[in-house]
Amino acid sequence: MISHSTTHAVLFPFMSKGNTIPIFDLALLLLTRKISITIFTTPANRPFFSDSLSDTNINIIQIPFPENIQGIPPGVESTDKLPSMSLFPPFANATKLMKPHFEKALDSLPPVTFMITDDFLGWTLDSANKFDIPRLVYYGMSAFSMAFSISAASILRTEVSDDEPFSVPDFSGIEITRNDFDVPLREREPKGPGYEFVMEQLMATSKSYGMLVNSFYELESVYVDYCNCVASPKLCCVGPFCAVHEPPKVGS
Ligand SMILES: *[C@@H]1O[C@H](CO)[C@@H](O)[C@H](O)[C@H]1NC(C)=O
Repeated sequence: MISHSTTHAVLFPFMSKGNTIPIFDLALLLLTRKISITIFTTPANRPFFSDSLSDTNINIIQIPFPENIQGIPPGVESTDKLPSMSLFPPFANATKLMKPHFEKALDSLPPVTFMITDDFLGWTLDSANKFDIPRLVYYGMSAFSMAFSISAASILRTEVSDDEPFSVPDFSGIEITRNDFDVPLREREPKGPGYEFVMEQLMATSKSYGMLVNSFYELESVYVDYCNCVASPKLCCVGPFCAVHEPPKVGS
């Protein structure tokens, strides 16, 4: 039972194991700070959540995953179950249809102090704003990868060939190639659903309260400082999340 006076965080990981597992670790970290937690998932992912978070008093809420999405087999609610990662754009885009359920659940919760939702769930910003809750973005990669994606973007739009090394503009001495990047960033003229999805998430992130990275400042200070100089919102290193191994005892 979450009292009205406690700090209460809502967590909403993306439906990929690699995005979810660090959020479990983050949840344990927040519990050690006496923060009450409500975490959102979908019915097929629920057992994974209940098993991983047993022994904690984290409140798990499941909301339905959208049905009848073209290309997505029924019952698939996690990217590791997708027949092909080419189905990622429709899968990720379909999560938008969870918004009414998310908002209905938010409405029924004790006051929420802040929410941490995955970078891929940009639509949650709109819900956060509706309920006047600050949205922090969980960004599943490092400051290093973000800094390079920002800095190299202008070169990737040029004719530079796939395997020809080029210097990353703001990091002299470091060379990479187009092929070091994934689609859609790798493309000369990125377009299509995958790219639109990335742009939508970037836009939502830029309007959010802050970004949390599972890293620590001393590890990649140059890249954290760079991101905080050229982009907003502020990127905060609050990791490594896995530093907490023992969940606080229920009731303590
Ligand atoms: C993404 O989802 C929205 C809402 O369901 C839909 O209107 C839109 O057509 C979808 N876009 C793509 C590229 O699938």
